[in-house]
Amino acid sequence: MPTPDSTWHDAGPADQVPPGAVIEAVVGDRIVAIANVEGRLHAIDGICAHQGGPIGKGRLSGCTVTCPWHGWQYDVATGRQTLSQTIRQASFAVKVQSDRILVSLEPPG
Ligand code: FES
Repeated sequence: MPTPDSTWHDAGPADQVPPGAVIEAVVGDRIVAIANVEGRLHAIDGICAHQGGPIGKGRLSGCTVTCPWHGWQYDVATGRQTLSQTIRQASFAVKVQSDRILVSLEPPG
């Protein structure tokens, strides 16, 4: 579905990410993990900083997603790896419009 603003990329129907779920989506040229925490969507880089595991195929508990490969955990609101001060996944603006998830890959301005 085309979007009126090219900054925003369509990442699929909003109902594919119910509260408590995390999914993997291809957004532009990125793989993104999109999580729904109590009705609020968050989007972070979906390729794990450890060895490239699929974060979007992990398990979400509260605000924390666990990579399915070796268990690294990230805060989906910030992209921070929970045990490190320095490891941080890129995070992206995300919104729902007309029942579609839209993700911006632009750095926050
Ligand atoms: S690849 Fe994600 S924890 Fe190892």
